[in-house]
Amino acid sequence: MRDHEDQKTMVIYLDSVDSTNNYLKDRVTELSHGDAVVAAVQTMGKGRLGRQWESNAGDGLYLSVLMHPSSMEHFTIIPIICGLAVHSAMKLLCGVEIGLKWPNDIILDGRKLGGILCEGRLGRAVCGIGINLNQKSQYFEEKQLPNGISLHMAGVNAPDVKTLAEKIVNELILIYNRLENSGKGEIIAEFKKNCVTLGREVIAHYRDREIRGTAVDINDDGELIVRTDDAEYTVNSGEVKLRIADGAYV
Ligand code: BTN
Repeated sequence: MRDHEDQKTMVIYLDSVDSTNNYLKDRVTELSHGDAVVAAVQTMGKGRLGRQWESNAGDGLYLSVLMHPSSMEHFTIIPIICGLAVHSAMKLLCGVEIGLKWPNDIILDGRKLGGILCEGRLGRAVCGIGINLNQKSQYFEEKQLPNGISLHMAGVNAPDVKTLAEKIVNELILIYNRLENSGKGEIIAEFKKNCVTLGREVIAHYRDREIRGTAVDINDDGELIVRTDDAEYTVNSGEVKLRIADGAYV
């Protein structure tokens, strides 16, 4: 059993960096579990599936946290823990209840408020968290991202970046300690409670094909179980689209 509760972690603040994830990946052996970096601007912010994460000054939070899981079993649960840490920090600081779309989207009012990109290096996990804070709706219109939303657009006062970053890091460490001390059952159960994917009609990717069905569960490894007309599939990566009222998938 490891306990990091009393461990002092460090948050590094940068004016500009290519990507906060890259910054930590280059320093995994020098930094400790729970150390983090925040940048005011990312010049090459990375999204999931090779996408770009637009990261202009004043628009959002660009945070990466280094985690050093004690086992492979815990490593696979890290993205789930990141989602829960954001959920908890947003509730405590802003009074809003965000949803978690499997695997790694942060949802507010049915739209994407942010995302999580976890990358591995030398047994450590680099957890990148991007949250839209101050963009106006025109920003997402111009970028042709109709599904995007910021706290500002939702009428929520954005906390300052430092307060938000440090709360997320804190929650991440607390939830990670719960994983180490009590196991993953209750962590997965909590994720499922806040997961907007479960019970929905989805399009997901299984091996190299697209499947359509209902998202019915998340297993102990954090994988999504999708039931189609003929079988149940265990989906472990990729993008999942949710069916909305007019029958379209977003
Ligand atoms: C997604 O595609 O939804 C994940 C977006 C993750 C963006 C964050 S911003 C901080 C960290 N640094 C990066 O380059 N990406 C992540």
